[in-house]
Order: sequence, then C-alpha cells, then structure tokens
Amino acid sequence: MDEGGSLVQRARAVIAPPAHPCYPIMIGRGRGTVITSRDGRRFLDFTSGHAVLNLGHNHPKVMEAVRQQMKSHVHAGGIYCSEATVAAAEELVSIAPDGLDMLFFGNSGTEAVEDAIKLARYTSGRQTIIACTGGYHGRTLGALSLSSSSSSCRWRYQPLLPSVYHVSYPACFICPCGMNPEACGDRCPEEIERLFQRQVPPEEVCAIVVEPFLGEGGYYPAPASYLKGLRRICDRHGILLIFDEVQSGVGRTGKWFCCEHAGVRPDIVTVAGAIASGFPLGAVVSSAELMRRWRAPNHGSTFGGNPVSCAAALATLRVIGEEGLLEATRVTGSRMLRSLQDLAMQNPRIGEVRGMGCMIAVEFVDEAGAADGSLCQELIDACLAKGLILIGCGLKQNVVRLIPPLNVTDAELSEGMAIFADTLHGLSGKVRT
Ligand SMILES: Cc1ncc(COP(=O)(O)O)c(C=O)c1O
Repeated sequence: MDEGGSLVQRARAVIAPPAHPCYPIMIGRGRGTVITSRDGRRFLDFTSGHAVLNLGHNHPKVMEAVRQQMKSHVHAGGIYCSEATVAAAEELVSIAPDGLDMLFFGNSGTEAVEDAIKLARYTSGRQTIIACTGGYHGRTLGALSLSSSSSSCRWRYQPLLPSVYHVSYPACFICPCGMNPEACGDRCPEEIERLFQRQVPPEEVCAIVVEPFLGEGGYYPAPASYLKGLRRICDRHGILLIFDEVQSGVGRTGKWFCCEHAGVRPDIVTVAGAIASGFPLGAVVSSAELMRRWRAPNHGSTFGGNPVSCAAALATLRVIGEEGLLEATRVTGSRMLRSLQDLAMQNPRIGEVRGMGCMIAVEFVDEAGAADGSLCQELIDACLAKGLILIGCGLKQNVVRLIPPLNVTDAELSEGMAIFADTLHGLSGKVRT
C-alpha cells in the first residue's frame, strides 16, 4: 500500500466518517495552485480547498503576516484588544457592500450564518426566516434549518428550527417553475408574496436569507432581477435581506462580493471561506446602526476574530487589492467560460456552462437531457488520475465546479482546461466535429 493509502487508513481509524477527505491524496506541499503529494505526484488544485484558498496555497505574504503575528500573540479571547483583529475588521468593512460598516467575527461559515440569524431575530423581535430550496448555509442546527441543498444533510436531525420557510431559488437551467427563463417574468419573488398571503404574514418575518450565487446546491448565479425583487420585498415589509457570501465573497466572482454584479445591497452579509486564506475565520457584517442594537451580554465568541486568523485576513484582502486580482479574476473567468462554451458546442452532454470570475460550473446531462451524475463523477475521477483536482455539486451531483485560485497563472489555467477537455472527450465519446 502506498503512503497515501496508509494515511487514509489511519484517518479512517480515528476521524469520524463525515470528516473523511474526498480524495486519497496525502498533501506534502501546497504552493499557489499546485499541490505535491508526499509520494511526489503533482496536482493542479482547481477546488481551492472548497473555494477557500483564493490566493492559492501558502501565499508568501499571508504566511509572513501569520509568522509576524505569532511572534506577538495568538489569542485575545474577548478579553484584550488585538491590533490584528481591529485592522482586519477595518479592512473588511472597507470592502463590504455600501453601508455595511460594522462586523462580528466568528470562526466559520456556519457560525457566520448562526450569527446573522441571531442578529436578525434579536434586533427585529421577529422569528420567521425565509430561505431558498437548494441553498446551503452550513451544518450547525440553526444554519442547517436554512440549508436544503440535499435532504441527506438534514436526515435524522429534525426537527430543526421552527418558523423557517423555503421558497424556490431561480436556478434557471432547472427552472423550479418549469418555465423558459427568458419568458418567466420573475416568478420566484412572487412565490414569497404568496407565502405572505397563505402561510406567514410579513410582519412576522425577520429575514430572507439567500446565496446570490447558489453554491453547494449546483452553482446557479441568481439573475439580477431576482435579487432586486427580493430587495423590494424586504423594503416593503421591513424585512432584513441577508446575503450568504461565504462561498461567493472575497473576490471569487471578480468583485469583492457577488451581489455587486446585480447592484443590490443586503442588510447583512455573511463572510467566511476565503477571508483568511485557510485560517479559520468568519464574519457577519451589517450597518453600525443595526449592530449597535445587539447588546454585549446577549452574544459572544471566545475564538472569533482570532489574531492569527485576522493577520491572515488582513494580508489576504490587501494582496487581492494590491495585485489587481479582481480584474484578473474577471479575465480568467471570461477565458474559462469561452473555452468551456466551445467545448459545449462540441459535446451534447454539457447541458450548461455558467458562472462568473473563478466560480464556474459545467452541468452534465444524459442523452435525454436529464442530470447525469455518473458522467460527472467519472470525469472528476479521470481528471484526478491526470493531476487535476475538481469537485462536484448539485442535488444530483452532476455539476463540476472549476474554482481555481484567483491568481492561477495562464499556464496553469491552460494546463487544467486541456486536461478537462481531453478527459471529457475521452470519456463521453460524443464529440461532434
Ligand atoms: C454559502 C455557504 N454558507 C455557509 C457555508 C458553511 O461554511 P463552513 O463550512 O465554514 O461552516 C458554506 C460552506 O460551503 C457555504 O458555501
């Protein structure tokens, strides 16, 4: 058995199944987009460690910031004031959507969502939350109550939070209303008005929580008109609009936050994932006006805003700005879309190519146009064997995500895209010339 195989066995002996790694790669060294396994194999990481490593593995400036911070102190625990924590907060609110100028730090995405739920309930005095079918917001019980990307993540944990309602997400390729997206006239927001008429009056709703770019649920960017529709509904009824940008934030789509593409400002945004280049950190960001109504004894976190994670976050945000990575991400995204769309023209098993920046998806279908999870899995496995790491998503696991770091080089991108195209050609045998 190779070294990787034996490590997997050791992992299986002591680490619970939900935390087993997807792939038997024993990571030896990670630099930028490239991982070298301990048995000497080279991989291109087009997962960015679950859309976390927006600067790739071990960016030198982030590592240096962390080393410097560790020489000073590593924990403040809500007892002392750390320069690193304050500086990271200042930097994060400076790039947050307009008017969101105060934050609360936690440690992860799911915790940021918990914090957003508590902030919304506490400050509004209302209980009910509306979320979207297909959304994913985390695994802790509050966040899980909003998540519905797959019933498997809810199985045996119910009942979850009461007063949570789910409405359709505008995943247009698999339209929940069975409509041609061009002719639908924005039906999805109307469903919320129907919910108000039949099930819960808007006066009881504290928040609508939505991913502006549906992540785990299949990589569907919401149309701008839908997000604008949500904004109107929230304004009309005094409901807080919460955008969960744990996956789509921090430059992943070529803007600091995905909602900027639609020009829609949320009342609260959740951030985690890429914020600290792999160090655990999350934040819920809102207006100082709303945040100041949240009182000290009613919430808190011992590890939230950890100085080492915050030093990493500050360096991460500065590097993205200084190295022009938002613009670079948009260019990379256009390149990926173009080459995948060319591929789709030749291959009927690609149902759709979509996305923005370095958040791109390819949805696979069978000959009859139905979701094809098997082809998708075969492709991921075959690409892995050739040194390209990819992950899937979606209810039927028929969507491949291409989420390289924002600073992926041209050569790495070409290499990854060539492996993807060649492998698909070899597998599907459906190339039309
Ligand atoms: C949109 C969204 N929200 C929340 C989470 C949960 O984040 P974490 O795994 O850090 O708890 C995720 C994780 O993928 C996510 O994509």
